[in-house]
Amino acid sequence: MLMTDHDMLRQELAPLMAKYEQSRSALIPMLQSVQAKYSRISPFAMQIIADMLGIHPVEVMGVVSFYSFLNTEPKGRFIIRLCRTISCDMVGREKVARQLQTDLGVEFGRTTADGKFTLEWANCLGLCDQGPALLVNSKAYTKVTPESVHAILEECRQTYGVHAQEKKEEHTI
Ligand code: FES
Repeated sequence: MLMTDHDMLRQELAPLMAKYEQSRSALIPMLQSVQAKYSRISPFAMQIIADMLGIHPVEVMGVVSFYSFLNTEPKGRFIIRLCRTISCDMVGREKVARQLQTDLGVEFGRTTADGKFTLEWANCLGLCDQGPALLVNSKAYTKVTPESVHAILEECRQTYGVHAQEKKEEHTI
């Protein structure tokens, strides 16, 4: 039987609905799951999630727009979030920021033309005694220097081939 995108997404999210006993607590995990698989949360996905939870799509949209870790537009395979809060600011955040921009050729808030990297600001990551701190997706890097920026980006580039292979098989709901 041919499965529509609608059916496929519902099927993918069904285990989360079951885990959270059909409750609204499933909302964030469902959004995270969609984003992890499709790199963004489309209006279509928001509609399906709203239907499954029995809530209005505007409510889902409100949650997506509230959390900076959720996005409706595709971002790079590697989302780099540099802390801009005071402790990191005092120990060299600005130099690290400049190095990231130079190496990637994009400003904060932008994605590189090849779609590999998105550069974003973050507020305190809870690593204040080890700043400057940044996240690459969910992995934390501490005491980052302009020199270590090169190594961090190289580490991403070396793992990109593997992830790129995985992404080819994904759908674009
Ligand atoms: S101020 Fe940067 S991690 Fe807290």
